[in-house]
Amino acid sequence: MSDQYSVLGKAPGTEDLKKLSSPGNTHLTINKLNAGYGKMEILHNFDLFVNTAQSLCLIGPNGAGKSTILHSIYGFTNIFSGKIEIEGKEITKLTPAEKLKSVGIAYILQDNSVFPDMTVEENLLMGGYIKDKTEESFEEAEKILQKYERLRNRRNQPAKVLSGGERRLLEISRALVMKPSVLLVDEPSIGLEPKYIEMVFEILGDLQKNEKKTIILVEQNAKKGLEFADIGYVLVSGQIAIAGKGDELLSNPDVGRLFLGG
Ligand SMILES: Nc1ncnc2c1ncn2[C@@H]1O[C@H](COP(=O)(O)OP(=O)(O)OP(=O)(O)O)[C@@H](O)[C@H]1O
Ligand SMILES: [Mg+2]
Repeated sequence: MSDQYSVLGKAPGTEDLKKLSSPGNTHLTINKLNAGYGKMEILHNFDLFVNTAQSLCLIGPNGAGKSTILHSIYGFTNIFSGKIEIEGKEITKLTPAEKLKSVGIAYILQDNSVFPDMTVEENLLMGGYIKDKTEESFEEAEKILQKYERLRNRRNQPAKVLSGGERRLLEISRALVMKPSVLLVDEPSIGLEPKYIEMVFEILGDLQKNEKKTIILVEQNAKKGLEFADIGYVLVSGQIAIAGKGDELLSNPDVGRLFLGG
């Protein structure tokens, strides 16, 4: 694969990436991150800039390190050097629990993660297991059930009866119980039929625009991801090869040829 990318010219630098997210209030930044698993470095000198209520989509081939970026933000990787900040406060070394509880970062897993034998409502409440006050979880779960009819209609039924799309909605909603300000979403459309893919992106769009959530997502469906996101980064071998506004990348011939099947 690697020689295909050599035609792309110079990779974007830190200043280019900063410019892409502006103007706006910087929410989350990654500076010169080197991170991986065990002793193996997967991300090399990786930078990321995203503003409050902005969405950023990571695309790239399998194994490029897209999920590793979300893992690093959430605290699942070994960070060798570099810095992650939220509203100017360094969070690089916080544990996932601290990130969820004190700085409002929620991570929605790539794999199916609902508890099939628990009811929809119980699944939602699990999202707040880490909260000090359980009443708050009940209140948030209730708000979510009021908002999403599909979940409300099934609140007392086991999650295993949900359709694929409803299950994805439950996974996203469960993360919302903690009232996060940043959502890390890995492959929201994976395994879903087109009508559910639309639904999931509508929900993410609502969370971004109406609830001012900052969204960093990984999407194998590059077209959908770039149509949705304000900013796109193309990741190749743990480094950014191309970055641009989502719509610019959609019309970029290199991106089209490599990722949009055009
Ligand atoms: N828990 C882990 N331990 C060790 N290596 C890992 C772990 N998770 C991922 N890797 C390795 O890190 C590299 C990047 O993987 P990552 O999951 O970030 O890729 P990705 O871009 O999300 O790919 P995909 O599109 O297939 O989901 C791969 O070489 C993978 O084998
Ligand atoms: Mg992945």
